[in-house]
Amino acid sequence: MNTFKADIEEIRRRALEKMEQGAVTSFYKADREKVIEVLNEVLATETVCTLRYRNHYFMAKGIHASGVEAEFLEHANDEQDHADRVAKRITELGGTPNLNPEGLATRSHAQYGTGERLEDMIKEDLIAERIAVATYSEIIRWIGADDPTTRRLMEELLAKEEEHADDMAKLLSRVSK
Ligand SMILES: [Fe+2]
Ligand SMILES: [Fe+2]
Repeated sequence: MNTFKADIEEIRRRALEKMEQGAVTSFYKADREKVIEVLNEVLATETVCTLRYRNHYFMAKGIHASGVEAEFLEHANDEQDHADRVAKRITELGGTPNLNPEGLATRSHAQYGTGERLEDMIKEDLIAERIAVATYSEIIRWIGADDPTTRRLMEELLAKEEEHADDMAKLLSRVSK
């Protein structure tokens, strides 16, 4: 009982001591700098995906693809939400979200794409989603048990990207008929 109390005291003392570091406590086991670096690549990926889907939304409008543009817009907004959540986590870890347009495409795991035909656009989106699914799975494995909050965030993103990939696969079979 006394040991428990002493432990709580010690935990509280250490939490107070590190308060200026924000959400990062001395219990944080991951390599913080490395996690920030990896999250900045995820941020670039989500930003490139936002831009690509938004471009596809306007392009699809131009070719009167009813129903398809709504799907592109929904995905664009999802990716923007992902980017915002990743940027927030970077700041919680004491890092700086890198939204510099210079080097954005290089930092991103997925590509922006240049397709102009509806089918090509959907294919690009499907490829980008599959890349995100693969790299986010790797990141989750890499984080392991060292940073549960970042891991949970990445798991939520992964689930959404799997949904996106599924949506694009279905859309592709619809338009390529
Ligand atoms: Fe995303
Ligand atoms: Fe996605």
